[in-house]
Amino acid sequence: MSYKLGEVLLSREVIAERVKEIAAEIAKDSEKGKPLVIVGILTGASFFLTDLVRELPEDMDVRVDFMSVASYGDSTVTSGVVRIFHDLKTNIEGKNVIVVEDIIDSGLTLSHLLTLLKGRHPASLKVCVLLDKKERRKTEVKVDYCGFSIPDEFVVGYGLDCAGMWRHLKDIKGVIEEK
Ligand code: IMP
Ligand code: MG
Repeated sequence: MSYKLGEVLLSREVIAERVKEIAAEIAKDSEKGKPLVIVGILTGASFFLTDLVRELPEDMDVRVDFMSVASYGDSTVTSGVVRIFHDLKTNIEGKNVIVVEDIIDSGLTLSHLLTLLKGRHPASLKVCVLLDKKERRKTEVKVDYCGFSIPDEFVVGYGLDCAGMWRHLKDIKGVIEEK
């Protein structure tokens, strides 16, 4: 099986516009004078996160940290059991936290990660995803901020990869499988 890049699904302009809107929503909801910890899930979400936080107002107390997690299982089936490769440096106890992820699919990874983070007693814990493949959900996860709902199609670019490739694309594109 080989893979080829498909059509543009979301252009860089459309993404940038939506990122601004999400930042405005986050700013509106944020608690004045309290730090907001934005937790990016490496590697995919780092692209989205860096654009997102730069759209937040300068007078907001924004902190950025990253986690690297992987779910056990083979490459196609997510088991949902999360293994931490790199943990937060920030103590999130009593803080407002937003977890930023590139895409939510089955929801298993995020669901386990949220359970783990809840155990650290943040004041609040919200979820922000750029893309949501709703029809693939296997477990309920409350998504507080969502960029785009997309159909069940594999996509790459703007941080999203296919076997490590194509994260660097400016637009989000489909992938065509060739036998
Ligand atoms: P899940 O919600 O636990 O099934 O896992 C979500 C993860 O699957 C994401 O963080 C991505 O790494 C990966 N993923 C799901 N769909 C896609 C896609 O279309 N392109 C690239 N990665 C994807
Ligand atoms: Mg990921």
